Amino acid sequence: MSTENTRLETFLEHCRNRTDTELERQLSGAGSGSERLQQAMRYSVLGGGKRIRPALCMASAIAVGQPADSAIIPACTLELIHAYSLIHDDLPAMDDDELRRGRATTHIAFDEATAILAGDALQTLAFGWLADAPGLDDQVRLAMIRELATASGHLGMVGGQAIDLESVGKRLTIDQLETMHRHKTGALIAASVRMGALTAPDVSDDQLAALTIYSQTLGLAFQVQDDLLDIEGDTTVIGKPQGSDMARAKPTYPSLLGTTGARDYLARLLDSALASLDGFGTEGDMLREMAGYVVARTH
Ligand code: IPE
Ligand code: IPE
Ligand code: MG
Ligand code: MG
Ligand code: MG
Repeated sequence: MSTENTRLETFLEHCRNRTDTELERQLSGAGSGSERLQQAMRYSVLGGGKRIRPALCMASAIAVGQPADSAIIPACTLELIHAYSLIHDDLPAMDDDELRRGRATTHIAFDEATAILAGDALQTLAFGWLADAPGLDDQVRLAMIRELATASGHLGMVGGQAIDLESVGKRLTIDQLETMHRHKTGALIAASVRMGALTAPDVSDDQLAALTIYSQTLGLAFQVQDDLLDIEGDTTVIGKPQGSDMARAKPTYPSLLGTTGARDYLARLLDSALASLDGFGTEGDMLREMAGYVVARTH
């Protein structure tokens, strides 16, 4: 393994460990609500996952001169929103998938109503946690809540999921497909990077603008690779049913451009994501490495 890979692996492992520890702590309180609901929340959040959004958030904090761990709470709240989006994405009314992260999806392990409620509860938990997060300036806290809300809602992830469902069985144009991807996946990836950057009280408009372009481009690349893995991946490696998009007649980049065309597009997206970091010195290296990882990942 090259030195660069070792550095990235060490960073990813650190982010995974820190995120898992904080999420475990946040979800371990006994509480007075439903025990079953709480179990479903824990099952969905703590059952693996690459923790790419937390890692991007923490890499972005580094890029603006902050310690990675200063972004740990926003990083965790991104993961809560992500987990909620996956629970709902797998429901029979949406993608109707029974496997996620190598085990039963939440509605299979529990039941549909519990899965819907677990998703709802994780979403509000994210915002409550951010509102209570210690050590954040109130202006920063508000800006982060705004980022997360916009990226999650009808102008972001939820809006993209709606376009996704409306597009089943249709042949979209490249522009329409890009709009769908930018919303359903890109928005939360962009929020991950922007929230990490907001940990620096003196982050400049120029830095934020560059990081926004980087993150939007990477968010698009992330979903192109996800679509490729749906075709070329192995169910046991990707931990979700290979071929699900094709079976549900979902428009994807490979379905429109072929796998070679989609891979060429991915390479171009990687180049432009990296180019958008030109104004950063070595402090941007972890974001550069994350970009390489996102497009080359095998699961
Ligand atoms: C999968 O996201 C869902 C998409 C937005 C394409 P990830 O590939 O980050 O899933 P986990 O968290 O690692 O399971
Ligand atoms: C889902 O996209 C994006 C979300 C907002 C959850 P996919 O439907 O392609 O995600 P997977 O492949 O099921 O993880
Ligand atoms: Mg889906
Ligand atoms: Mg899906
Ligand atoms: Mg997919």
